[in-house]
Amino acid sequence: DNKPTALIMIFGATGDLAKRKLFPSIYRLFQKEQINKFAVVGVARRPLSNDEFQANVKDSILTFAGENEKVDEFASHFYYHSHDVSSSESYIQLKEIADRLDSHYQLEGNRIFYLAMAPEFFGTIAEQVKEQGLTDTNGYKRLVIEKPFGHSFESALELNEQIRTAFNEDEIYRIDHYLGKEMVQNIEVIRFANAIFEPLWNSRYISNIQVTSSETLGVEERGRYYEKSGALRDMVQNHILQMVALLAMEPPIRLTTEEIRSEKVRALRSLRPMKKDEVNQYFVRGQYAAGTLNGAQVPGYREEPMVDPDSNTETFVAGKLMIDNFRWAGVPFYIRTGKRMDIKSTKIVVQFKDIPMNLYYKTEETLHPNLLVIHIQPDEGITLLLNAKKTGTNMKSTPVQLSFSNKGTDRINTPEAYERLLYDSMRGDATNFTHWDEVALSWKFVDSISNYWESTKETSFPNYESGTTGPKSADELLEKDGHSWWPVENLDLEGNC
Ligand code: BG6
Repeated sequence: DNKPTALIMIFGATGDLAKRKLFPSIYRLFQKEQINKFAVVGVARRPLSNDEFQANVKDSILTFAGENEKVDEFASHFYYHSHDVSSSESYIQLKEIADRLDSHYQLEGNRIFYLAMAPEFFGTIAEQVKEQGLTDTNGYKRLVIEKPFGHSFESALELNEQIRTAFNEDEIYRIDHYLGKEMVQNIEVIRFANAIFEPLWNSRYISNIQVTSSETLGVEERGRYYEKSGALRDMVQNHILQMVALLAMEPPIRLTTEEIRSEKVRALRSLRPMKKDEVNQYFVRGQYAAGTLNGAQVPGYREEPMVDPDSNTETFVAGKLMIDNFRWAGVPFYIRTGKRMDIKSTKIVVQFKDIPMNLYYKTEETLHPNLLVIHIQPDEGITLLLNAKKTGTNMKSTPVQLSFSNKGTDRINTPEAYERLLYDSMRGDATNFTHWDEVALSWKFVDSISNYWESTKETSFPNYESGTTGPKSADELLEKDGHSWWPVENLDLEGNC
């Protein structure tokens, strides 16, 4: 059979990501029989026996797998190594475990090093796995690496140089979990498999594009990380700019990793960098105050654990991106993302330009613009908003929706983002991972904003109440251009406009 095989070494195996995403994803791949020859070594500092580790693994999948024989069989593929990141001896022991499992499970020397931990150790780990011979293998060796990939262009470059000592670029799989989402992957198909969109997909017919990713969660227990990150680095540098690149890129010559990537890179290269004195004109930042969410009182950002009571960190960003190339000249891409907003929703709204003249002026002062809405989450689907005759009237028009919802499709067997990405990394398909060139360009763009923000204290913070759509300044950003945000909750797959 040509199922992928792998020894997966998870560094940070006692952490939250391993428990919430990685173990469940590996289980689903196993349950669907997409993998059968595999072993996992959990690597972390804490001393644990294999049995204890296996119990943790079972625990993490119990809620959806229940108790069954398969769960025990699955967990038997898991081993644990209590690790000291900076001790060579510890890597030598890990190599012994790896070699033993390799021959026991016939893994053909295929190895995945999954770094699910704080980036300050990435350099040491890369160096040591190479020095101690863990990467000398007959099979493939791949590094799967979690965000944050640096904190700025400079630090990302340094990190990249460290991991490149042990891995080639084509062996590095940088995770952006948005690229594993069903509907993010669908952007490309909607654009390039339909005759009715691509001819209109440019500045002649598109007025503006809006990308919103709102969350209801606050910063939770991640205050220490988030204080240094903020919404711009946490969401825009990666997830949002990746969606923008997919929306803006030219059609690739063919659907190979290299061709798609090179078009995404070209789109990111066309992003207009912000000059210092332009930042305030194109970007706004927000920070949540206390408020009410789903009937419960929630604290403001400055009251969260590990957060400076005087913090200048943004938990909301809205911006206007300009893509300076032939296709997009003059078309604003409005983006916004924030924590503690009114609803959890990620949506893309493509607003088409108005038709040249309104023949229905006697009944409709203005016609509703045509919209294409791509629902990324929690609903998954597409809505096309058109004008049609209001039934029974004398040529009155009304907006109607053509909708496709993924709800009706086989959701149970639809893989989750992490499951898909892990599987891709085992198969050696890097299409839905971010190449260094994309990371570098995104950071350079983000740096042009964050450098300015760091040099100026925002005096209006906190400037939006929890449970709302963000600060007023985000609305004003579009109003200046004669536009407004399409309210995401009214553009759901069932609702009307
Ligand atoms: C992560 C951010 O990358 O994405 C989090 O670090 C954020 O702060 C999360 O909550 C959002 O992901 P999703 O899949 O819930 O939209």
